[in-house]
Amino acid sequence: MEADLDQRITELLSSKGSDRRLTQAMGYTLLNGGKRVRARLFLSLCSDLQLRLEAVEDVAIAIECLHSASLVHDDLPALDDDDFRRGKPSCHKQFDEATAILCGDALVAFAFEVLTLRLSGEQLVQSVQILSYAFVELCHGQQLDLTSHETESPEELIRIHELKTGKLFEASCALAAVMSSDNLPELQNLANIGNLMGQYFQLCDDIIDLHGSQQGRGRPAGSDLKNGRKNRVFGLSKSEVVGQCNQLESRLQHCLSEIEDQTPYTFSATREILSELEARVRAELGA
Ligand code: IPE
Ligand code: IPE
Ligand code: MG
Ligand code: MG
Ligand code: MG
Repeated sequence: MEADLDQRITELLSSKGSDRRLTQAMGYTLLNGGKRVRARLFLSLCSDLQLRLEAVEDVAIAIECLHSASLVHDDLPALDDDDFRRGKPSCHKQFDEATAILCGDALVAFAFEVLTLRLSGEQLVQSVQILSYAFVELCHGQQLDLTSHETESPEELIRIHELKTGKLFEASCALAAVMSSDNLPELQNLANIGNLMGQYFQLCDDIIDLHGSQQGRGRPAGSDLKNGRKNRVFGLSKSEVVGQCNQLESRLQHCLSEIEDQTPYTFSATREILSELEARVRAELGA
């Protein structure tokens, strides 16, 4: 499903007054070279579920608004204190701290405003429930991450990843099931795929934070180390890291095949997103 999200985001933001500093910060954040993985995962699932783009495009944008809000706040001095994001100054460096705080706030509200534009009834109610739940859990995960240096067990670390990253991926996949009018109960399992995908993604992010290229990270190396954050790949050898990736990937492939067996759908576009993540981490690891 080919979507021009930039064009639609620009159109939606234009209603907010392009001369406002806040709108400029929102545009800087939303139109600044993000990979759009969560939005594209959602759109790929929608495509695999044979849905029309016009019906679901704004939901993809709402996901991206929440994700971007979390990043703007994640980079602030009180959290990760990162001056660069996507190879460019982070929002509080490009603008200022107060504007970045307000920009994050505004993006959360904007996400829900955008969600209401083309959805109604039960679909809208369920979408609001899914996204608001995910975002509160994400914030809780971010809170736990701040003290993750005290976290001893790998299980606890996985739990933090499930929250800070997995929940929005889970929501992106659960939303695709809500968009489908089929009401097949088996599609509920998509949420589980989303959570695994989120874990896989955060594992890749941790690998890139430690071992990746400057270009792959979009900022200097070792943000996690600098902040005393637990990173899932600290202390692991390259082959152990590759082993963990392979394990998550085969669980994901298995879950996708299971839903394919139970429903009339083939998740080929969704599998492409998985291959893309895999290729990225392999390239960054030089494996
Ligand atoms: C970064 O997410 C935050 C994590 C949960 C690891 P992305 O790497 O998806 O960020 P962008 O939007 O592509 O820059
Ligand atoms: C952030 O995790 C997860 C969010 C919910 C924003 P990280 O702090 O590892 O993300 P990056 O590495 O800054 O993108
Ligand atoms: Mg962080
Ligand atoms: Mg960070
Ligand atoms: Mg990181």
